[in-house]
Amino acid sequence: MKNFTYYQPTRIVFGRGESEKIGGYLSSISRRVLVVYGQGSAVKSGLIERAKKSLEAEGIEYVLLGGVQPNPRLTLVRRGIELVREHGIDAILAVGGGSVIDTAKSIGVGVKYDGDVWDFYAGGVVPQETLPVAVVLTIAAAGSECSNSNVITNDTLPSPEKRGINYDVTRPVLAVMDPELTYTLPAYQTAAGGYDIMAHVMERYFTREEGVDFTDRMCEATLKTVIRALPIALSTPDDYDARSQLMWASTIAHNDLLSTGRVGDWASHRMAHQPSALYDITHGAALSIIFPAWMRYVYKSDVNRFAQFAVRVWEVEPDFNDLEKTALAGIERMEDFIRKIGLPLTFTEAGIPYSRFEEMARRATGGDTFKLGTFVPLTSADILEIYHSVI
Ligand code: NZQ
Ligand code: ZN
Repeated sequence: MKNFTYYQPTRIVFGRGESEKIGGYLSSISRRVLVVYGQGSAVKSGLIERAKKSLEAEGIEYVLLGGVQPNPRLTLVRRGIELVREHGIDAILAVGGGSVIDTAKSIGVGVKYDGDVWDFYAGGVVPQETLPVAVVLTIAAAGSECSNSNVITNDTLPSPEKRGINYDVTRPVLAVMDPELTYTLPAYQTAAGGYDIMAHVMERYFTREEGVDFTDRMCEATLKTVIRALPIALSTPDDYDARSQLMWASTIAHNDLLSTGRVGDWASHRMAHQPSALYDITHGAALSIIFPAWMRYVYKSDVNRFAQFAVRVWEVEPDFNDLEKTALAGIERMEDFIRKIGLPLTFTEAGIPYSRFEEMARRATGGDTFKLGTFVPLTSADILEIYHSVI
């Protein structure tokens, strides 16, 4: 196990009805807040109206910034930075999912920086401070409510680029998590969010680090919980127990508890960001195409770990004379699960052509200036093969 520092500063408030009290939770943090939200679901459900009332009850002034799109865009981040400066805002409240939270986080660090906010993503510039970011979470998925990451698409480039940054300064100060808010999610978003949770665990699970049994077991428990709860949430959207398992799993999968003492891979995420930037495909659906393809490409390099994954997570009967067969059976069960929850396994199913695969593979490796991932470091030629394997 590697040495580690675990830093988790986010105050988490979890459970039924907690989002109604957002004004109270924010009152010690803010007097004038920027409320960031998406393209309509939070307005339609009445959540924004209830949040406004709760803020008013505490005498907190607010400015609204709606319209965040999935795969959130830099243009709206820049607009948010202007609004914060114009109105003397002292905190940001994200009401939504990963896209809204990432927009809020990006505004938060952008406001405190004299240059252009894209400098953080283009490389080199490290954000030193942020406005406090608070969250009311509406989808169990990205884990941005406690993570140190945010991912933004630069829509001002001739060919859009989606890039992430990872800095502890961007972790939210407060996350209010009310599973009932996720009842209104379309099935596709529930499924994509659920698979993203699994992907966050699997990026950490496939490591070369030895002596990590404790975090292996926590990863396996998280995965098994999602595998059980996700089909229930899909068939019964207002099942509180299933929704609450998923919501808490989304945070635990990505708040770095499961990274303690080990090094994750993250190649699948970076490969998945490329089609999302060019074709706007939902993050979890890009992952459901890429992750199994990555597994099939690399499993022979550590058959034991893949066999462990198959047996402990997917309950495959181990074949001690043929561990490779066991490993492959685990990948197959995961693919069956992806089909069952209605996500794509190929680019064709997602309506994505193969004409720009080379460009995507080059971008994923910064034009072959580095290799992607740590489990098996991938060149752009490897990535191209992975993309082609799931046309
Ligand atoms: O825009 P609205 O109308 O709100 O609709 C959203 C959106 O269409 C809808 N939605 C959310 N909550 C809802 C709801 N619809 C009905 N009822 C509700 N309660 O769901 C759609 C997707 O929302 P989005 O915020 O994009 O989902 P998610 O949380 O999956 O976030 C995805 C983004 O996060 C990034 C992804 O790359 C992607 O851009 N990620 C961020 C990470 C981080 N910051 O730590 C890590 C992840 O790996 C990921 O990369
Ligand atoms: Zn993800």
